[in-house]
Amino acid sequence: MSILIKNGRVVTACDDYRADIFVHDSTVTLIGKDLVLDADRVIDAAGKLVIPGGVDPHTHLELPFGSTSTSDTFETGTRAAAFGGTTCIIDFAVQFKGVSTLEALDTWHEKAAGKTAIDYGFHMIITDMPDHRVPEMRRLSDEGVTSYKLFMAYPGAFLSDDGTIFRAMRKAGEDGTLVCMHAENGIVIDELIKIALAEGHIAPKYHALTRPTRLEAEGTHRALAIAEVARAPVYIVHLSALDSLKELRDARARGVMAHAETCPQYLLLDETAYDAPGFEGAKYVLTPPLREKWNQEELWRGLRNGDLNVISTDHCPFCLKEQKEIGKDDFSKIPNGGPGVENRMSLIYHHGVGKGRISLNRFVELTSTAPAKIFGLFPKKGTIAVGSDADIVIFDPDHEETISVHNARTHHMNIDYSAYEGFRVKGFTETVISRGKVIIDKGDYVGRAGDGMFIKRGPYGGAHAGLRDGV
Ligand code: URP
Ligand code: ZN
Ligand code: ZN
Repeated sequence: MSILIKNGRVVTACDDYRADIFVHDSTVTLIGKDLVLDADRVIDAAGKLVIPGGVDPHTHLELPFGSTSTSDTFETGTRAAAFGGTTCIIDFAVQFKGVSTLEALDTWHEKAAGKTAIDYGFHMIITDMPDHRVPEMRRLSDEGVTSYKLFMAYPGAFLSDDGTIFRAMRKAGEDGTLVCMHAENGIVIDELIKIALAEGHIAPKYHALTRPTRLEAEGTHRALAIAEVARAPVYIVHLSALDSLKELRDARARGVMAHAETCPQYLLLDETAYDAPGFEGAKYVLTPPLREKWNQEELWRGLRNGDLNVISTDHCPFCLKEQKEIGKDDFSKIPNGGPGVENRMSLIYHHGVGKGRISLNRFVELTSTAPAKIFGLFPKKGTIAVGSDADIVIFDPDHEETISVHNARTHHMNIDYSAYEGFRVKGFTETVISRGKVIIDKGDYVGRAGDGMFIKRGPYGGAHAGLRDGV
């Protein structure tokens, strides 16, 4: 199978030029001006942007959470991602306490194999890492799982103590892998939750009121300090507020090998969402919670100047009906998380590039190249270059849509609401090629479950790769 993409404006993290791209089987084999070649399919991309497929390094498909699971399966979630111009996700496998991480990996392989529309990798959520399990981390990396997530929140479920965090970071530093941190002081948060409930506060907005930015900043500070002493790189997930961003800046200035992502919800939604009538605020019960609006421009500034490296979604969907409703009488029981994997590229293009907050190259870098580099997928993923996987999005910068659960062009996620209901976006994914196969053709899904495959990732490849010994 060969595809010739003609007349497009090719944009990568560092290039911007008009060229034709020839794809043979699964890879890009030629890029040039006015290519004249026989191809099975010719796509005219005149007037369109030709960009690397999005890489979303933070999704939760089929994630067990209390008595329920996220509502998108590996099939529905990756199909929705494809509609939105994302061609690779890194999802989170979970090690439950007392279980080997290798067993957990097998379980997640069973969930995903043969089901996905696009390629995928796994991080491993570590909840239990006594000394005798530490060698499993090397075995995971041999299996292509080269990053781990540890939690400072959710005591009794996911929380790791600081000793566990230090052990995991030290080992990751030695192996050239990467620890991702959920940085929030979950112990103090639990105390605040107990106080709120004792005072009879059960509404969704208390989720936000019991998770102040200072406790995220404290977790961020601690994660960065532990990484510094462990001499390991660290990646702060879902950073939501200026307080934490300041900690990141300070740590980087003293040489800590730190990366951080933020997500569209922290850039575009704010705490007033919890004032929605009735139980509607539960749609926004995600962790960290939405913050005061003024934080948003600080995060955009951080994205522009390089303090923040990646925009992921933390796609973690639970339907309002029956799932979020588990916490109707107690906000602390509302499953935490929200949807977004389908909307990231359009939202960030519109509010970032369209509003002059970030350049087009930076848009590609934040949504594709940087996560591919940091998480060991580059240059297979994250760019358009000869030899790279043909994960290519033909993106129409003029196509406008209103995001809505009722708009069949913007909502393929298996969830009964949109977090971005009514958001107008200019800039929309038209055609998606995933490893050389057209899977979205002018807005129609033409792929099938099983087109995607598990990608064994390489070692940590961020800015500090190879610098651990202080070079
Ligand atoms: O609310 C969220 N983000 N749920 C998913 C789990 C996590 O902490 O990323
Ligand atoms: Zn988290
Ligand atoms: Zn998450």
